[in-house]
This record gives sequence, structure tokens and C-alpha cells, in this order.
Amino acid sequence: MEVDFNKKIYAQITAIGGYVPENKRTNSDLEKITETSDEWIVKRTGIKERRILEDGLATSDMAVSAILNLIETYQKDIQDVDALIVATSTPDMLMPATANIICDKLGIENVWAFDMNAACSGFLYALDMGASLIETKRYKNILVIGADKISAYVNINDRSTNILFGDGAGVVWLEPTNEVAILDALLLSNGTGKEYLNIEGGGSLHPISEQLLLDEKRYIKQDGKVVFKNAIQSMSDTCLNVLSRNDYSVDDVNWLVPHQANKRIIDAVGNEIKIEEGKTLVNIEHYGNTIAATIPLCIWENTSKLKKGDLLMLTAFGAGFSWGASLLRWTI
Ligand code: UT7
Repeated sequence: MEVDFNKKIYAQITAIGGYVPENKRTNSDLEKITETSDEWIVKRTGIKERRILEDGLATSDMAVSAILNLIETYQKDIQDVDALIVATSTPDMLMPATANIICDKLGIENVWAFDMNAACSGFLYALDMGASLIETKRYKNILVIGADKISAYVNINDRSTNILFGDGAGVVWLEPTNEVAILDALLLSNGTGKEYLNIEGGGSLHPISEQLLLDEKRYIKQDGKVVFKNAIQSMSDTCLNVLSRNDYSVDDVNWLVPHQANKRIIDAVGNEIKIEEGKTLVNIEHYGNTIAATIPLCIWENTSKLKKGDLLMLTAFGAGFSWGASLLRWTI
């Protein structure tokens, strides 16, 4: 349908793609490395396996594969893209942005492209940014990507993190429409979580040094219990707030798509907001926590269940802390 730019413009998702590496790290692999068990991991997290990107490849490679999947599935022309946002905490390099590397690999030029780091909430932040750019009427085809090679920062000998994380990438294509589509996002952050979930090393505070390696500061660390509690409360609160400020109740939601960090967190949020059973999309079993990629990957895997016009509520929580919830009408 022709878009009338004199009327209100919404951003709509017109295509979606995803990619996970072939290589699996199963619970039984981890049983051989640290003192843990398949039974404990499944019971406490819901995770059975994660995907691990091979050495020599990086976050941009997974993002490019996800974009190629989108292009093939939806017959999009990559040369139409005028903006590209990458939510990632694991860029290929500190400079240039992974977004630039992706543009180069795809052969696109003169694109408004940059990286955004909001950890596990990154995709929701990037989606809101992309939707806002569409609403300015200056951009018409935007790729919003969530991609992380978090395995590069996981200490394989640390059972408090090695069981949780895996690699992956997901992407959506945004275009303008006059129909109601991406509706609202309530995204929040503070710094109170910085000591409970972080990768301290390699930044300007702790540049790479021998001591940093000895202190194991290159790895992701977390206080699981603190993160767990905050995640449930923050996601539940923002879900209820974003619904109420748009005059919706939880019964209006067709699908809840939560960040996939722990199945117990997902279930607790569902209970807290009282969403009907069967309306929550979950794929943590196969991929674990892929940081900024969890939400687009989970939607991508479940597209056959979604009907045009369905109301989706997305919610995430991550390092910072950063968290929030978004509402959108499914438009594919
Ligand atoms: O996107 C945001 C990023 N992160 C998260 O959302 C993670 C949030 N946190 C979590 O998912 C959970 O806190 C964990 C999965 C990390 C840990 O689960 P928990 O239920 O909080 O376990 P716990 O640390 O309280 O440990 C319970 C017991 C302890 O034994 P005792 O003291 O009860 O005898 C641990 O030593 O389980 C033991 N334990 C393990 N056993 C086998 C802890 N980790 C493991 C393990 N395998 N990997």
C-alpha cells in the first residue's frame, strides 16, 4: 500500500532473519569440563545446548548470515537499506563499529550505520531507535540487528556463566506505514547493576595487559542471584506499565517475547503479569542466552505461529542494568 507521508508514520517490521552457528555446546560437553550436570542445568535454567561460533569468525559474520537469510526469505534488495543499527556487546573490534564492517561485507555504501551497546536489552533499544528514525520520515529501509559472539568472553571453566551463554544473530527490516505497527517502547537503565554483571577487561579502565589476563578480567562475570531477582521485577513492571499507558490489558497480548536468559525468569515474569499459558515464546532450550540476539531469534523461529495484526510484547533485562518492554503489531 502507498504510504502517505503527510499522515502519521509508524515503523513496521516487513522482514525478519536469523542465524546460529552449526557448532553445539551441550550440557554433556559441560559436564566434562566443570562440576555440573545436565539435570541441574535443565532444572535451573531450561537450557540443553548453545551454539558456539568458530575461531576466526566474529559478530559481523553472524549478522551478515542473518541478513542474507532475511534477503533470501523476503526477496529484499540490500541496496535499498539507508540505515543499519547493530545492538551488540561483543563488537568485532573496538573501532570501527561492527555496523561499518557489516556494510562492507554486504557491499552497501552511504548508510547511516552504528553500534549500540545496551547488553541484553540491546535489541529493544535498537528497535526503538530504528522506529524513531522511520518516524522522522528521513529513513525508509532500516536494518535492526541483535548479534553477539559472547562465547569469546565466557570462561569455559566457570560454571556460573559457561552454562548460560551462546552465540547468534537476528535481524528485522523496518519500513514506514500509515497503519498502527510498532506502538511504543518503555526502556530504562541505571548503573546500579555494574558490579553484578560485567566484562571488566579490554576497555579504557582496564586495557589489555598481562595482569588483566592473570586476573581473568577478560571474562563475563555475574552475581546470578542479584541479576535473577532484578530481571523478574524490572521486566514485569515495564510490561505492565507499557500496557497500561497504551490502554491495553495483558489479555490483549497475543505473544510475549521475553529475553531468553533463564526459563525460570521467563516463567516468573509470565506469572507476575498473569499472561495466559501458551502465549509466551521460548527457545532458550537450544541456544541459551545469546545477549542482544535472543528476541529477534525467538521471533524468527516462531514466525509461522504469528498472524498479521497480532499484538506482540517484547521484554528484556541486562547488564547496566538496562531493561524495558515494547509493544508492536505484527505486520508480516
Ligand atoms: O540476561 C541477563 C543475564 N543473566 C541472567 O539473567 C542470569 C540470572 N541468574 C541465573 O540464571 C541463575 O542465578 C543461575 C542459573 C546463574 C544460577 O542459578 P541459581 O538457582 O541462582 O543457583 P545458585 O547460584 O543459588 O546455586 C544453587 C546451588 C548451589 O549449591 P548449594 O550451595 O545449594 O549446595 C551451587 O553451588 O547450585 C550449585 N550450582 C551448580 N550446580 C551445578 C551453581 N551453579 C551450578 C552449576 N551446576 N552450573
